[in-house]
Amino acid sequence: MTKRVVLAYSGGLDTSVAIGWIAAETGAEVICVAADVGQGGEDMNEIRQRALDCGAVESVVLDLKTEFAQDFCLPALRANALYLERYPLVSALSRPVIAKHLALAAQKFGADTVAHGCTGKGNDQVRFEVGIGAIAPELDVIAPVRDSGMTRDKAIQFAEDKGLPIDQSKRSPYSVDQNFWGRAVETGFLEDPWNAPIEDLYSYTSDPAVAREPDDVVISFVDGVPTAIDGRPVTVLEAILELNKRAGAQGVGRLDMVEDRLVGIKSREVYEAPGAIALITAHQELEDLTVERDVRRFKFSVEQRWTELVYDGLWFSPLRSALDAFVDSSQRHVTGDIRLRLHGGKAVATGRRGEGSLYDFELATYDTGDTFDQTLAKGFVQLWGLPSRIAARREQRLAK
Ligand code: ARG
Repeated sequence: MTKRVVLAYSGGLDTSVAIGWIAAETGAEVICVAADVGQGGEDMNEIRQRALDCGAVESVVLDLKTEFAQDFCLPALRANALYLERYPLVSALSRPVIAKHLALAAQKFGADTVAHGCTGKGNDQVRFEVGIGAIAPELDVIAPVRDSGMTRDKAIQFAEDKGLPIDQSKRSPYSVDQNFWGRAVETGFLEDPWNAPIEDLYSYTSDPAVAREPDDVVISFVDGVPTAIDGRPVTVLEAILELNKRAGAQGVGRLDMVEDRLVGIKSREVYEAPGAIALITAHQELEDLTVERDVRRFKFSVEQRWTELVYDGLWFSPLRSALDAFVDSSQRHVTGDIRLRLHGGKAVATGRRGEGSLYDFELATYDTGDTFDQTLAKGFVQLWGLPSRIAARREQRLAK
């Protein structure tokens, strides 16, 4: 029987050339799988057809949007996942859902190998391969760009020689990866970290410096899940899409940063993630109101570890599942509303309320109606400071 390879297909030059390249190198039949994670842009049907035109024996498009929102973006939101305290894991979240479906497609189509178009310098190769191995450890993985000398020049030559239907003029000078959780832009003139980003780079966000009226939005959560916007019930996917529009129109969620990749290099990245940043901001604010002090303090370290695991390609790891069990438990009372003002590139909370609130007006007020018994404070403070006082007395004794 002819060998079969499942290829992660994007519709771009590299993966289009990879179809014939893999067939020539391995003698295998190539089955293309294109994942729709809300990257927008090109029509997915055209992408499906292009794979066939480039020589694939089968070509499928998988609509992963709802699964991506519910099972990947939502856990990231509940974990307030921001790598290096800024980057909301846009690409790092989409790779595991794609990897899972590549592995399932390989099993379904009787392929023993999965192929992807990543280079050897990025994080995405790690996320794909570790993810595929975690779902189907028996599969082999090949990466023509990384492993068999499929450079860009050779790819263009190959496409010309074979008359592949690839429009080179449509190619962007940047490497862009996007889905509805955000958009990542790298390479080109951005490789010099001193070069400022230009307005042209952005497509999810408007220029925050342009004067416009602010947009106030109320986001409601039940147990840490966004369930309504301005009182209208929404799914997680709908919440992300609506906030991408509204926060994007106010220039919210632009990032320009130098980031530590898993392979050890620092890279310059420009991101825009208006919906993700608005949702995470609102969620953090509601946690401040509803989560008990020690759980809230402890959760920060869990969030950081969770985020680094996912960034580093370990979505399908026992530790990520265990940390998610903690996050789930922490979300039990994260129920209420946050009013955000979207304006001038910022999403700022201006109001919070909810049935999960731990804020007690009578304990907090400095006005009449105060129920806080201040006579308890004196003894508490003395005992709290007792170890420090004892240590200070020792210093005084030894100094004599
Ligand atoms: N550096 C980011 C990450 O590792 C973005 C990667 C974007 N991928 C791409 N092929 N442009 O998550």
